[in-house]
Amino acid sequence: MKLPTEKPVLVTSALPYVNGECHIGHLRTYVPADIYVRMLRKMGYEVVFVSGSDTHGTPIVLSAEAQGVTPEEVVEKYHEHFRRTFAELNVKFDYFGRTDSETNHKRTAEIVQRLVENGFVYKKVLKQAFCNTCGRFLPDRYVEGECPYCGAVARGDECDQGCSKHLEPGEILEPRCKVCGSKADFKDQEHFFFKLSSFADFLASYLEGLGGTLNARNYAREWVRKELRDWCVTRSLEWGVKFPGREDLVVYVWVDAPIGYISFTEELLKNRGKEEGWQRFWKEDGATVVHFIGTDIIYHHCIFWPAMLKGAGYSLPNAVVASGMVKIDGKTFSKTRGNVVWVSEFLERFHPDALRYFLVAHSSHTKELDFSWGAFATRLNNELVGILGNLVHRVLSFGYKNFGVVPEGVVKEEVLVEIEKAKAEVVRAVEEYEFKKLVDAAMGLANFGNSFFQREEPWHLLKQGEAGRERCGEIVKNVLQIIKAVCVFLDAVLPEKMAEVWEGLGMKTGSAGSDLRSVRLEEAVAEIKSGQRLKKPKKMFERFLATAEGDLKSPQPPSRNKK
Ligand code: 2FM
Ligand code: ZN
Repeated sequence: MKLPTEKPVLVTSALPYVNGECHIGHLRTYVPADIYVRMLRKMGYEVVFVSGSDTHGTPIVLSAEAQGVTPEEVVEKYHEHFRRTFAELNVKFDYFGRTDSETNHKRTAEIVQRLVENGFVYKKVLKQAFCNTCGRFLPDRYVEGECPYCGAVARGDECDQGCSKHLEPGEILEPRCKVCGSKADFKDQEHFFFKLSSFADFLASYLEGLGGTLNARNYAREWVRKELRDWCVTRSLEWGVKFPGREDLVVYVWVDAPIGYISFTEELLKNRGKEEGWQRFWKEDGATVVHFIGTDIIYHHCIFWPAMLKGAGYSLPNAVVASGMVKIDGKTFSKTRGNVVWVSEFLERFHPDALRYFLVAHSSHTKELDFSWGAFATRLNNELVGILGNLVHRVLSFGYKNFGVVPEGVVKEEVLVEIEKAKAEVVRAVEEYEFKKLVDAAMGLANFGNSFFQREEPWHLLKQGEAGRERCGEIVKNVLQIIKAVCVFLDAVLPEKMAEVWEGLGMKTGSAGSDLRSVRLEEAVAEIKSGQRLKKPKKMFERFLATAEGDLKSPQPPSRNKK
């Protein structure tokens, strides 16, 4: 979807539950969102990028219980962990908040109050799972059983291993207590419900115009066509945002979590001295709002969230971009089964840019991404080292040694055509949320650069007197132009490595003196200035000497290529 250029864009990335360490499954949403934001800025958009910690709900409470600490302590620890991990990966949010902030408590209370006043919330007694052994009610993840829709093993509030459907309290079949394993009973309890069913017509037409990826829209449409059940929006928990007027109930975590998107916008703009600035994004239709999520939470973002916003008189998101889930060696990601790759473990050995690259290069954004060390090794060795690293190292070394500066010469039509072609593909890829196509276009151009250099054999010309040297310089300049364009196209994916190459090309210190991060896409075709000082290049990435394809447990990577 091409976004309107006159409006600012708010990009959000789903909020991680801060109940454990960041694994590469998380990154499938954050890294592409960050790449998207960086690309939009290169395309001239004004962008705000927010996310934050999802601090409430049973995921946090259960972890705290298991560790014998308070929910606050769990949140404190992992909020910091996620913030640091994102910084290490160069996922640069303008604001990374947390849903237990005062702003979010206030905004949630206000929105719930609005829904009550507008007649979209009602009281009802429901049969809630209860554990006689533990002597307590079992909200959400406290209970496990069978999904009534697809039969998979499911959590109390979500069919996490099957159809991804949101489950209402009391809906799960064969419920068992997650803490002690006993079969659960049912007991009556008074709760509040959101009239989701009354939003069917609204949602059907809203989804027609919703941008983003087709998997999100189609999945949501299907549910609206089938049936919409009202949502229980309260839980009997201590930890959370109190339901207005009820000390014994908190709102369901899926109420205050997406409201975090609004609160973080408020907090960010307040920090920038614009107290009411958030309204432009959430009240006045004055911005484009794009949510990046995983396919497991489409239901929440494309059905529940817009209905809640509509019911409370807020403006609506314009696009939902849903990434496919991550598998490890063809198997479903699972922390409990040890089928997981931790980001910290990865970063001890590899440069963050290599992971960013793999996450978008290995499969189309909406498809599953199957991680294995073998697949990672192949992409790293063949593409980052074999194509990109080779181009940069070979040409910059040659240019540095024989000229020291960008030589004189004319950039050929043939080269400009290739760069323009790649540029058009890059823009299309961003508009289609197909980040794989973006890297493919840039790597295609790098490949062209390698073939061009090889075909022209400039090293022979060096031996052919002054005229030969001039012709040789011109060829080098042409390939440096290609490298410059590749830097512009891949900066969003490989921000640290491309910034180094940019500097190596003399772009920072040359007369044009520019910072790669802030240049526009057009810079790719702007002629590289002759006379700019070249730098001796460093090796970009080390090869990964994996012992075997898919060798997950004992990879033998080289020590990380230090920055
Ligand atoms: O599924 C999850 O991990 C949730 N913490 C995502 C919340 S996204 C948003 F709605 F807050
Ligand atoms: Zn299911």
